[in-house]
Amino acid sequence: MKAQLQPTIRSLALDYRSDLVGKSYILHADAFEWLSRIPENSLHAIVTDPPYGVKEYNFDQIEKRANGNGGIWRIPPSFDGHTRAPLPRFTALNQKERDQISEFFTEWAKITTHALRPGAHVFIASNSFLSQLVFSALVKGGLEFRGELIRLVQTLRGGDRPKNAEADYPDVCSLPRGSYEPWGVLRKPLPAGMKLSDCLREFQTGGLRRIGPDKPFNDVIVSGRTPQRERKIANHPSLKPQALLRQLVQASLPLGIGIIADPFMGSGSTIAAAEAKGITAIGCERYLDYFELSRTAIPLLAKLPSSIEQDSLKF
Ligand SMILES: C[S@@+](CC[C@H](N)C(=O)[O-])C[C@H]1O[C@@H](n2cnc3c(N)ncnc32)[C@H](O)[C@@H]1O
Repeated sequence: MKAQLQPTIRSLALDYRSDLVGKSYILHADAFEWLSRIPENSLHAIVTDPPYGVKEYNFDQIEKRANGNGGIWRIPPSFDGHTRAPLPRFTALNQKERDQISEFFTEWAKITTHALRPGAHVFIASNSFLSQLVFSALVKGGLEFRGELIRLVQTLRGGDRPKNAEADYPDVCSLPRGSYEPWGVLRKPLPAGMKLSDCLREFQTGGLRRIGPDKPFNDVIVSGRTPQRERKIANHPSLKPQALLRQLVQASLPLGIGIIADPFMGSGSTIAAAEAKGITAIGCERYLDYFELSRTAIPLLAKLPSSIEQDSLKF
């Protein structure tokens, strides 16, 4: 079987405002539009952290957050004397908004399936409150569910007493305190009847890269919260840690060959992780300030030493 030709990274930037950062490209574009315009079977993998409440990254909600005006963003209760950054309030979503989330991810999966090569993996960040809804929607849109990856991390979600009745119910919490972050592991289905070995040969996709000869990729990753050092480089409300992302981008290309994408790149942490691992990536962001931020953040995040990856290899 013949290996399929790969488009050049430059050609995938189309006519959008774009920049070359290292050997990767960043685009100022809408993810849906960009993914639907690139040629079929272009991408070998996607590693992404999408907008979750769908509305928390609407331009008006980003402004509200910046002005400390609330909206969907809430300040988590301070339990250790430190003031926390605002987090999106997903529990405030009503049924109509939950239906919108479903439609958003079903639509996104359809477009993504066009852009991905057969067998290409998608790692997509989620949270325990919405993952069931989102993963079902992705499957409805044509992706194959391959399991969940658990990032063991102490989050600031849940664990609160009933609102306005804290004193009446001191021994109750409304949701468990979040101690993990689920990531969906999905794949564009292999062509009917195709074996994994043939998919690897033809598309360089279908499997995941092992950590070492005797160590398969594991679906639990112990991961601290994003370190201050990285937050100082990239002041984005949903910044993910390099230690985690470097493992995911590496695992997403079974043969270490191909182009990975982050269609919701924010400050570019996935692209930086790919750069650190010598992988070519393309990132897309529609909010201009974050696109500009990624341009400076990516080279600095990519330069962080590989010793930061050891934090999360202890499981
Ligand atoms: C959860 S954040 C990802 C942040 C990223 N993990 C980081 O470390 O910086 C999602 C990002 O997607 C962007 N976004 C939302 N809708 C988009 C769309 N339709 N096309 C492109 N970007 C979009 C938001 O502006 C936001 O920066």
